[in-house]
Amino acid sequence: MPENSTPLIRKALLTDVGPLLRLINGYAEQGIMLPRTEFELAENIRDFTVAAVGGEVAGCGALHFYGPRSAEVRSLAVHPQWKGHGLGRKLVEALEAEAREHGIESLFAFTYIPDFFARLGFAEVDRRRLPSKVWKDCLRCPKLQCCDEIAMQKALVAGLGAEEALQGQEAGDAGNGFLIVPTVKPAVMPR
Ligand SMILES: CC(C)(COP(=O)(O)OP(=O)(O)OC[C@H]1O[C@@H](n2cnc3c(N)ncnc32)[C@H](O)[C@@H]1OP(=O)(O)O)[C@@H](O)C(=O)NCCC(=O)NCCS
Repeated sequence: MPENSTPLIRKALLTDVGPLLRLINGYAEQGIMLPRTEFELAENIRDFTVAAVGGEVAGCGALHFYGPRSAEVRSLAVHPQWKGHGLGRKLVEALEAEAREHGIESLFAFTYIPDFFARLGFAEVDRRRLPSKVWKDCLRCPKLQCCDEIAMQKALVAGLGAEEALQGQEAGDAGNGFLIVPTVKPAVMPR
């Protein structure tokens, strides 16, 4: 990274929507991220943190809450030109710090690159145990029926392991924002 281009990690502004669209949808065209619309980005811009280099958006990530205890790290992307310079790590660390400020106990992510998240203290978990509202994203994903993303989770509370953070949830119970997704059976119609 050039000397005069120290990255600045900051919360996103509405004026970042254009660069964020180009960054995220560039990867979405390659099938490695979910595409976002201008409307969605504007609506959720306060979720986003950006890495700016020389005044340009070089990376981004979002923290999306699912209830008072759990949150998702999503829309994580670093511009191809800036990959491998630690921006991805800085972005996740900033999102984690933000989650801690809000008292979040469990942070999770869905990813094709579990090794990246493992380096940041995340561990793989059973992806059937997802926060209920996450399905609103899945429903419009082209890979809904053949999802191959890996669920990674990090407990932010000392002594709370991944399994403990997920324990105690009955099917359909969204008590801490987690839900065991029910199996859909074909309906038998009465004659
Ligand atoms: C994944 C991504 C955000 C990583 O950003 P980055 O700035 O290149 O990553 P960093 O330089 O901060 O790397 C942090 C650590 O993760 C490792 N790492 C980076 N990319 C990795 C990968 N694809 N697989 C495994 N480990 C990876 C680095 O070696 C580094 O390890 P270290 O700190 O122990 O040396 C970036 O490659 C990207 O935008 N990819 C395309 C979009 C994408 O896949 N997003 C993730 C959606 S969940």
